[in-house]
Amino acid sequence: MGPARLITIDGPAGAGKSTTARGLARALGWTYLDSGAFYRLVAWQTARRGINPEDEAAVAALLPQLAPEPGADEEGFFLRLDGRRLSGELRTPEVSREASRVARLPAVRRWVTERLRQLARGRRVVAEGRDLGTVVFPDADLKLYLDADLAVRAARRQQEQAALGAGGDLTATLEAIAARDAQDQNRTEAPLQVPSGAVILDTSRLTPEEVVARCLQLATERLHLAPPGGAGMAPPGRGETTT
Ligand code: DC
Repeated sequence: MGPARLITIDGPAGAGKSTTARGLARALGWTYLDSGAFYRLVAWQTARRGINPEDEAAVAALLPQLAPEPGADEEGFFLRLDGRRLSGELRTPEVSREASRVARLPAVRRWVTERLRQLARGRRVVAEGRDLGTVVFPDADLKLYLDADLAVRAARRQQEQAALGAGGDLTATLEAIAARDAQDQNRTEAPLQVPSGAVILDTSRLTPEEVVARCLQLATERLHLAPPGGAGMAPPGRGETTT
């Protein structure tokens, strides 16, 4: 294995980060890290144990009892807790809402950040979240920031929920996403921000395949990687800005 290399993908909910990070990691043969899964895990366990998510001391006392093990398969990144693979339980609208709440707590952020840095050590990684290019991996080789119109992001989130067998009202989904964005952007600790030097990609009018192809093109150019077969199919520059 060569030297560790890092690509970070940040952005608001529904901007296409997970699909892009998974596709990019697969195309490059790198490890995919989904940082949101750790915040979701803390939120899910807080609720299951009846802990008040506003009580930082109580949430902090829970953290040493959690030993999530990351894994990867065809579907991408997952966490295992006490030997059980987690999936749908971390993706409910309640866990999404509560994850954004516990993510405000400095103790939780420190715990997640430490885990992500440990996991990335010595590896080639594509990591996605809200503060990866700003706080967790400020020295990343390539920083991407994905964004999309609120209506587009809400529609994508609703489709995702439908695929998990949960229906839902588009207006309610849109309001929930807007509330989560506001919370993630306005918190004191590691708020969602465009990292300096990031390439901003507006994915509103791009297909997931176009976004992955464009990011792959950027990665191969910026990191001087050999282009994997089939790379570079995206129309260059569409929806793109550099900070
Ligand atoms: O990416 P996601 O929807 O799975 O993230 C769930 C919540 O976790 C999100 O609302 C904010 C929080 N989060 C964060 O604060 N920092 C990260 N790096 C990733 C997620």
